[in-house]
Amino acid sequence: MKKISDIKGNNEETAIAQMKFDGAENEVLTVAQKRKYNVLDVKEAKKISLIWLQHMQLENVVGFGLPEVDDRYHIWRVPLLNVVTKERIGEVVIDAYTSLILEDKSTSQATLEGRLLGRKDTEPLKPASSKEKYKLSTLRNTIALGDSEEILQDLPAGSIDLVFTSPPYYNARPEYTDYITYEEYLLKLRKIIHNTHRVLAEGRFFVINVAPVLIRRASRSEASKRIAVPFDVHQIFIQEGFDFIEDIIWAKPEGAGWATGRGRRFAADRNPLQYKAVPVTEYILVYRKHTNKLIDWNIRSHPDSKLVEASRVADGYERTNIWSITPAHDPRHPAIFPVELAEKVIQYYSFKRDVVLDPFAGIGTVGEAAIKLDRRFALIEQDPNYFSVLREKIKNGLGTEARSVFTINCEPIQVEERLF
Ligand SMILES: C[S@@+](CC[C@H](N)C(=O)[O-])C[C@H]1O[C@@H](n2cnc3c(N)ncnc32)[C@H](O)[C@@H]1O
Repeated sequence: MKKISDIKGNNEETAIAQMKFDGAENEVLTVAQKRKYNVLDVKEAKKISLIWLQHMQLENVVGFGLPEVDDRYHIWRVPLLNVVTKERIGEVVIDAYTSLILEDKSTSQATLEGRLLGRKDTEPLKPASSKEKYKLSTLRNTIALGDSEEILQDLPAGSIDLVFTSPPYYNARPEYTDYITYEEYLLKLRKIIHNTHRVLAEGRFFVINVAPVLIRRASRSEASKRIAVPFDVHQIFIQEGFDFIEDIIWAKPEGAGWATGRGRRFAADRNPLQYKAVPVTEYILVYRKHTNKLIDWNIRSHPDSKLVEASRVADGYERTNIWSITPAHDPRHPAIFPVELAEKVIQYYSFKRDVVLDPFAGIGTVGEAAIKLDRRFALIEQDPNYFSVLREKIKNGLGTEARSVFTINCEPIQVEERLF
């Protein structure tokens, strides 16, 4: 039987995981079991990597080294070897929770093939000259009824120019959540962020509106609890291949948070330690899909310089990261964001005619703002009631043009000519 010290690995836990795999009889849980990963052992990690290699038709020339779990980032790293020389030529990185391959962190097919042929690594990409233009997305205005984790898989890679969304709240109200545990909720967000990465164009932005959630106490003997959702969501973005750009604070007018009841006790007794701030802010976190190209590249390589010119932001824009905006309310949905907020984000982070995606579209505020600002939209919502409001909003906003909206899992939009 191997001793932990006999096994080469990054840390002791990796070694323990390996001992388990080797059939060593002990009661120690592997790190993958402790973390409740989907990918539990080296065998499973190799199986996933093999499918990936088969997809690239490299399974006969590339073999595997010893997979290692890295629980700081919740990933498995599977070394890739040249089967002839046994040299290491790259690695596959697998998301341990979702079993998905993190393509931007894994060695690319071109690099693997180059190394197999004994070529040196290709040069890192340099900022393109203004003569090299990227292609504009050909996606039509789209509305989709269903789970965005699945629907995103049907959208073409790189077809989205901006994502602006606000995810469902975890346990904001028992009847408004589908998630049993917070971990399950985060896993669902991770899968959707992961699938969004593929459809987002190179170097473009994902802007998300999130806030800590207050879980009310069930009885007087219990304490209420605040869950710092934005900080957990931040980790997911970084792990899924986005760079952090901005933390904008959406400040609501005074009085907006008093309904939460937070701070009332302190207001009455004024005992130190019982101080609780009334929450009147939410985060607008801004991420950019990782690339080695500068933002300047996204501007200079745009194929239509007139559109770039026409998209310039007018005076009166937000100069700091504190934006004061009055919250919006609508009897048809309990958690919408104000159209003013969507308009600012769309103006600051996209060009005219760009495609703006909202994977948690609610009643379509992002679509409303996109139409107003001459952007295209892709809106996904799973609740049929909210979706029908969204559909009506798009129909009214686009007029006869609504006929050409691409619809997924629903009838095309019919428009009677005489209405317009
Ligand atoms: C916070 S609301 C967004 C409201 C939207 N910003 C607006 O102004 O109308 C989140 C929405 O995500 C939807 N949703 C939750 N999980 C979803 C999923 N997996 N796929 C698509 N929509 C989902 C919910 O039904 C809810 O309408």
